[in-house]
Amino acid sequence: MPLLNTETLQADTAGIKRAADLLRDGKLVAFPTETVYGLGADAGNDRAVARIYEAKGRPSFNPLIVHLAELDAVKALVDWSDDAEAVAGAFWPGPLTLVLPLRAGAPVSRLVTAGLDTLAIRMPAHPAARALLAEFGGPVAAPSANRSGQISATRAEHVLSGLSGRIEAVMDGGRCPVGLESTILGLAGRPTLLRPGGIGPELLEQALGRRIAQRHETDAISAPGQLGSHYAPNARMRLNATDWEAGEARLGFGDVDCDLNLSPGGDLVEAAANLFEYLHRLDASGAAVIAVSPVPHRGLGVAINDRLSRAAAPR
Ligand code: TXA
Ligand code: MG
Repeated sequence: MPLLNTETLQADTAGIKRAADLLRDGKLVAFPTETVYGLGADAGNDRAVARIYEAKGRPSFNPLIVHLAELDAVKALVDWSDDAEAVAGAFWPGPLTLVLPLRAGAPVSRLVTAGLDTLAIRMPAHPAARALLAEFGGPVAAPSANRSGQISATRAEHVLSGLSGRIEAVMDGGRCPVGLESTILGLAGRPTLLRPGGIGPELLEQALGRRIAQRHETDAISAPGQLGSHYAPNARMRLNATDWEAGEARLGFGDVDCDLNLSPGGDLVEAAANLFEYLHRLDASGAAVIAVSPVPHRGLGVAINDRLSRAAAPR
């Protein structure tokens, strides 16, 4: 990946305008929130979201949190509920993320949800984050602004030490007051604590008026038995296909003849951006088998292959 010039922006009117322009242009901008710095991209832009994974060096596609400044905008993306109203009323804006059913046709890249039919959403309280979200005017996908496997950034200097040259800008808002990622509450089914954070379960139960189940974040990601909770196509998957068999839906990569091509030119960012969309489309065609060309196992290709092998796992 060629080195980029990473701008440092101030959290003032000019800096916020510049940051919003960069996001609109599909660029990556790290920004402060009250929890940790987020690595932001336009959540509706597949390519921009794919670049988040590339910049972080993430070996798999974890679903990302979408950040918004206004409740009306949130309600346009997810199925809102009384439970959501109760906890949002108590803790938003603030360090709480809610996982809710994704609305059909919501303008969010499938790479944000990693193909799930739920969306994690948060309304941050940090004034610079709120100003940026208001100026940008749409959903911003943002994982923590650190390289994969490294600790989260609570200062602009931490962001730069991990991501300088890999992102277009960082907005310097000083130190993040909370310093720990948001609490994640799953509300797509029975209320479930998905990640502990600053807002403890007792406070959430008080706001909801009932008990919540507890499950540690890593369960969903690492436990093989949980793979079904990620999007798995109805079709069987045949990976590393170097020829096509009759009746298969053909998902190509590079210079091959196929039904849909992740990237005819062999660009891994483009391939990642298309991955979930194309899997859905080929699955919807009703084919019994989706055959997929080999994808090089380097850079974003590692995350693409991880996702493909999960989709192909026996179930
Ligand atoms: O405080 C925070 O939440 C920070 C700031 C930047 O907002 N963001 C953050 O993002 O910690 P990240 O990507 O490091 O963690 C997101 C977590 C992951 O563990 C992911 O699995 C979970 O959210 N997540 C996202 N979407 C989900 C979904 N639809 N269902 C379940 N878990 C989800
Ligand atoms: Mg993180």
